[in-house]
Amino acid sequence: MTVKLGVNIDHIATLRQARGGNFPDPVEAAENCLALGAEYIVLHIRRDRRHMQETDLERLTKKFRKHIHLEMANTREMVELALRYKPASVCIVPEYPNELTTSGGLKMDLKTISALKKTTARLQKDGIDVSLFINPAPYDVRKAKSAGAKIVELCTKDYSEAKTEHIRKKFLEDISMSTILAKELGLRVHSGHGLNFENVSDIAAQNGMECLNIGFSIISRAVFVGLPQALLEMRKAVSFYAR
Ligand code: PXP
Repeated sequence: MTVKLGVNIDHIATLRQARGGNFPDPVEAAENCLALGAEYIVLHIRRDRRHMQETDLERLTKKFRKHIHLEMANTREMVELALRYKPASVCIVPEYPNELTTSGGLKMDLKTISALKKTTARLQKDGIDVSLFINPAPYDVRKAKSAGAKIVELCTKDYSEAKTEHIRKKFLEDISMSTILAKELGLRVHSGHGLNFENVSDIAAQNGMECLNIGFSIISRAVFVGLPQALLEMRKAVSFYAR
C-alpha cells in the first residue's frame, strides 16, 4: 500500500501575506498538488491568521472538500469554522502564541482530553474525520483513542530534529511502537512535522502508516525547482520502500 501524501500549503499563504495581495494563491497551489498526485491538501488556520485565512478555507473546501485536511486548535471559534466549511478531516493541534510552528503534540491531561472528547464527537457527528496530533508515546495513543478520535497524527518533530543517529533511531522506535499500538486499537495513523527528503523514508516504511503531512520542505524545495519537481521528488522519497 502506498503511503498517502498530504501537502501542507500554509507557506504559499505566508508568501502571499508578505505583500498583502492575492497571490500566490493557495487554491492554485492545491490544484497543482492534487493534479500531481497529492491525496490531501493541509492548511492550518491559526488564531493570529499569520498565513491561512477563513476565505482560503472557504475557497478550498468549495473546490476540493474531499481532499481538505484542516489543522486547528480546539477553540470554539475554530470548531465553528470547521462546522461551517466541513473539510474532509480536521487535525486538532496545540497552539501557543509566538511559536514559529506547532511545537509538539497535544498535552493529554484530563482537562484537555475532556475538551477533545466534546469536539471530536461534535465534528464527527457532522461527518468530519478527527485526527489528534500527539507525541509518539503509548499513553498518548491510548488517551487519543479514549477521546474518540479515528486518526492519530504522530508528531515527528523530535525524530526530525535529532542530532545524532543514535537519538534518531530512538525516536524512530517510539514512532514504530506507537504506530503498532494505534493500529491494534483500531486507529488510523498519520505522521508529520519536520519531515524532509532525507528523513521521510523511514517513517513512510512503518507498517500501517497511512498518510504523511509535509509542508515546509516541499515548499522550500519548490522555490528552486518548482512545485511539480518538488512533489515528484517527495513522492519518490515517500515510496522508497515499496510495501
Ligand atoms: N502536521 C502538523 C500537525 C503540523 O502542525 C505541521 C506544521 O504545520 C505539519 C504536519 C507539517 O510540518 P512541516 O511544515 O514541518 O512539514
